[in-house]
Amino acid sequence: MSGEAGGRGDDGIIVVARDVTRDYRQGRTVVRALRGADVTVAKGDFLAVTGPSGSGKSTLLHLLGGVDLPTSGSVHFLGRNLAAMSVEARAALRLRQVGLVFQRFHLLPMLTAIENVELPLAAMRVSRRERRERAAAVLERVGLADRLRHRPGELSGGQCQRVAIARALANDPAVVLADEPTGELDRTTSRRVLALFQELNTAGTALVVATHDLELAAGARRRIEVVDGRTRP
Ligand SMILES: Nc1ncnc2c1ncn2[C@@H]1O[C@H](COP(=O)(O)OP(=O)(O)O)[C@@H](O)[C@H]1O
Ligand SMILES: [Mg+2]
Repeated sequence: MSGEAGGRGDDGIIVVARDVTRDYRQGRTVVRALRGADVTVAKGDFLAVTGPSGSGKSTLLHLLGGVDLPTSGSVHFLGRNLAAMSVEARAALRLRQVGLVFQRFHLLPMLTAIENVELPLAAMRVSRRERRERAAAVLERVGLADRLRHRPGELSGGQCQRVAIARALANDPAVVLADEPTGELDRTTSRRVLALFQELNTAGTALVVATHDLELAAGARRRIEVVDGRTRP
């Protein structure tokens, strides 16, 4: 039953969060950010996570990506219980299998687009030459073949987000987790990011996108809502 219980990846399941809660302690008070969330992400999925501000969307993404661990409940990633792994093993799994995209891009301003995309490959000890080739190829995929040597300050918000998406894809992860990826972008640019996500998903990338943007959510294959720390289908 281990396949059914957690998913090893060979059954098409990437990550399963089961009845997860997450408490944040602040001095003597405890904030219960999640109070019973269930999510399954399969290969080929494009899942939108919606819900009001403060409902627990970011917290849920962190748990799905092994950035953080639940207070109770379980998260299995490619069949492995994240809480049972060492910190190092979890970091290695994250680096290899999870691509993260943030609202404010989180690019290093002193590095060019291609250098930013190379970073996760360098962390995986990919050779310099292969790094260059793979980073250039993935930037080409997101439509930035002519911006490889630009720094974030020389790029528009939409272009910066595409660099960040390219960086998330560089290691060919099992899933890309994006937290409010269009939060800083105008409507036209947001639509282009949605189109890019749809294109990547059609080519096989699994995506989970937390968003307030109803148009983005409507463009996903599937949608769940988080309300007051609980998921509802
Ligand atoms: N590091 C933290 N420490 C304390 N409280 C937190 C922390 N992160 C989030 N919270 C609280 O947890 C709840 C859920 O936050 P979050 O997951 O960021 O929601 P969302 O992404 O839906 O806006 C909120 O009440 C928030 O204030
Ligand atoms: Mg959030």
